[in-house]
Amino acid sequence: MSEYIVEMRHVTKRFPGIVANDDVSLGIKKGEIFALLGENGAGKSTLMSILFGMYEPDEGEVYVRGKKVEHFSPNHATAMNIGMVHQHFKLVSNYTVTENIILGMEPQKRLGGFLPVVDIKNTNQKIADLSKKFRLEVEPTKKIEDLNVSMQQRVEILKMLYREAEILIFDEPTAVLTPQEIEFLLDIIREMRRNGKTIILITHKLEEIKQVADRCAILNRGKVVGICDVAETSTKKMAELMVGREVSFTQEKSPFRPGEVKLTVDHLVVKNADGFPVVNDVSFSVRGGEIFAIAGVAGNGQVEIADAVAGLTKVSSGTITLGGKEITDAAVRARNRQGLAYIPEDRQSWGLILDFTLSENLLLRRYDQEPYCVKGVLHREKFDEKSRQLIEQFDIRSGQGEKTVVRSMSGGNQQKAIVAREIDQDAPCIIFVQPTRGLDIGAIENIHRQILEERAKGKAILLVSLELDEIMSLADTIGVIYNGQLLKIAPADTMSTNEVGQYMMGVKE
Ligand SMILES: Nc1ncnc2c1ncn2[C@@H]1O[C@H](COP(=O)(O)OP(=O)(O)O)[C@@H](O)[C@H]1O
Ligand SMILES: [Mg+2]
Repeated sequence: MSEYIVEMRHVTKRFPGIVANDDVSLGIKKGEIFALLGENGAGKSTLMSILFGMYEPDEGEVYVRGKKVEHFSPNHATAMNIGMVHQHFKLVSNYTVTENIILGMEPQKRLGGFLPVVDIKNTNQKIADLSKKFRLEVEPTKKIEDLNVSMQQRVEILKMLYREAEILIFDEPTAVLTPQEIEFLLDIIREMRRNGKTIILITHKLEEIKQVADRCAILNRGKVVGICDVAETSTKKMAELMVGREVSFTQEKSPFRPGEVKLTVDHLVVKNADGFPVVNDVSFSVRGGEIFAIAGVAGNGQVEIADAVAGLTKVSSGTITLGGKEITDAAVRARNRQGLAYIPEDRQSWGLILDFTLSENLLLRRYDQEPYCVKGVLHREKFDEKSRQLIEQFDIRSGQGEKTVVRSMSGGNQQKAIVAREIDQDAPCIIFVQPTRGLDIGAIENIHRQILEERAKGKAILLVSLELDEIMSLADTIGVIYNGQLLKIAPADTMSTNEVGQYMMGVKE
């Protein structure tokens, strides 16, 4: 028998216009943590979806425990003790943890000898035991809607364990987690290895691989470009294989030359549905050529500030002034016309129309203007021409160029499309909310470069980010938000990362 619990031989999978997996061969050993590293769109999810039976390869073979897989279906994969936690969870929110876990495989006992009923009490206990064994800290009787993202993810993990998964696939599990939650998850993954499980960890974060993985395969544009022993390979080397060129972890930044004030927020108050001030008397201004970054732990009001400036949230009191004109109550489109571009946090619900093509999405702000629309008639060829130029300039990768339906694109490339569209408006003020969330280093480098180029052109930039590293490397001025208030506003070069961190926790004055 082969030394591998999973083996893929010459696996190729094509989608219209793209080879998602190109002649991939690799082997995974029992009991190891095997990482799959690659940029957005490299083919990681597709490859593991094949192992989980969601797709059938066009060519090549998959072996599990030495036996060739003949039928590709999730049920068959589950029967082979393979489990997968997807990027988007599949839970029913008004059901309890236990109900979600047993959905579709309800264990029954017979009441009075014949009437089948679901044995919830026993099942709750069994799930509580599993949760304890793997240190998941999940309560079986809680409803999903009352759990945060990290807890919901652990419910997905419990679901796999309950189904006796021995080979567990995690698709970018840390993308949605805070640093503390990531530590917790990595501990759980180590605990699983101690229990003899085989783990496949899909990620584009090198530090995570360094921390937990034994071996790592690197995918680039569908092909395996390297399989390495993590302990013996430098992060730099892995990054280069992943991106296919040398990468710089820091960006060149031109000297700070502030121009005139373009955006002013004065005594802003935003209340939530309960009347609680989530933004509490916040004042600041942003000059041309300045990156004003709001640092803070998630949920302290930073996103509400950005939404209020963009016109997506109602302001309770205070004023917002853009280019000398008050826009506190202006409509979204009026703000846009007044010179505001906005890259929102939730790119799928606010930033894009997923079932439209890339070309249509790139022209969302301009479709009613010349030369795209002349006397009420749309000129598609102008759309496409402009799109091809943006695709080239912003390195947006997709299967069918400007004709690709955006839904089928990877997250990183969707984000590049939004950034391209918004920057292309040439607005004097740009808001970036979490611009690199969930992106790989190649895409992060690209977007950081774009932000700095806009700064060099004299744009006023408001940046909201949960990544302190991102703030420290880009900001000219940092405002630290805690509990809806800006506790501190200071030039970036006068504050250490540590100091900013302390304000973020609210521990300094
Ligand atoms: N269902 C699909 N239909 C068409 N194209 C797809 C589909 N799923 C993925 N792709 C394309 O295949 C490539 C690989 O995608 P994916 O496996 O999701 O990459 P990764 O997980 O590494 O980000 C991407 O170019 C993506 O747009
Ligand atoms: Mg993926």
